[in-house]
Amino acid sequence: MMKPELQSKIQAAVARLHDGGVVAFPTETVYGLGADATNSAAVRRVFEIKGRPADHPMIVHLADESQLANWAREVPSKAKLLARRFWPGPLTLILPRSHQVSNVITGGQDTVGLRVPDHPIALALIRGMGNAGGLAAPSANHYGRISPTTAAHVQEEFGDEIDMIIDGGSCQVGLESTIVSCIDNIVKVLRPGGVPLPALEEVLQQKIEVFDSHQSNIRVSGSSPSHYAPNTPLEICSSSTLWNRVSALGREGKRVATLEWSAPYTVHLDNLNVRRTAMPANPVAYGQLLYATLRQLDDARFDRLMIEAPPATAPWLAVADRLQRASYPVYCPV
Ligand code: TXA
Ligand code: MG
Repeated sequence: MMKPELQSKIQAAVARLHDGGVVAFPTETVYGLGADATNSAAVRRVFEIKGRPADHPMIVHLADESQLANWAREVPSKAKLLARRFWPGPLTLILPRSHQVSNVITGGQDTVGLRVPDHPIALALIRGMGNAGGLAAPSANHYGRISPTTAAHVQEEFGDEIDMIIDGGSCQVGLESTIVSCIDNIVKVLRPGGVPLPALEEVLQQKIEVFDSHQSNIRVSGSSPSHYAPNTPLEICSSSTLWNRVSALGREGKRVATLEWSAPYTVHLDNLNVRRTAMPANPVAYGQLLYATLRQLDDARFDRLMIEAPPATAPWLAVADRLQRASYPVYCPV
């Protein structure tokens, strides 16, 4: 049961949304910045507040699978299987859009991203939008920045620029949803996320391709499409080269913070200015902590964040993807 104060906050938020307001709310992945998906002016305001280019489409959040038909003109069989297994949950399906989906949401594309989040507050807000309604929402951060996993992070990002923030504590998944394109029943992962690739493959009984939009640009200075990025330059190094790099930076007088997931090993710090953070060796637990940890280290204004590269295995795909996008384009000897 929800506390009465929270219930009345949700009611007030629904009223704001019906009036074209913009409300930040928790989901199981990250906080979203929501607007009535049937109100183009409200959706446009979300783009403006985020500083997001208009051709970068937004996900429409639904309360359950039965609402799919309002937003998608066709739901291929594989999409149905995935929705049935993973909704509510951290999965976004890209489907052919229905006539009611505005160009503002899709950036003019013929497809739409749909997801049923697994969070009581998000679901209560969506239900408040009515059966034919939905909540258009990107992550509640400025374009290109780290997604928020607490209400305080949203407050830091937007302060009074938005109409309301509903506090639902820390997000359980901590990384964004897995985005799966299902156009013409051809399944591709466009963004690894909360639902791991092996789980998708098990349900569909097939190998699934991961479309990699950024791999070719990694570490090419200037052309890398930085995203999910802290302000502090971030560099990824293999476990075996991490300490050479850290020592070299330390000798240059740089203040360095490390994120390490492998079992602690002895290193001689030689009075270098280094803060070590032990991260979980489990990808789910690591993902849950990643954004909050990056924000904390960002606030401490180190010169460089040195990240121990995660294992190159399927369960780590989402973490590895976010770290790569956040990484500073510098050459790291491997
Ligand atoms: O976990 C999540 O997905 C969170 C929570 C709030 O639900 N939302 C989120 O939204 O991460 P956003 O807007 O920050 O990222 C959504 C991504 C964007 O990169 C966008 O390009 C992609 O989804 N996307 C949305 N609609 C699409 C479409 N029709 N085709 C291809 N990509 C799409
Ligand atoms: Mg985002």
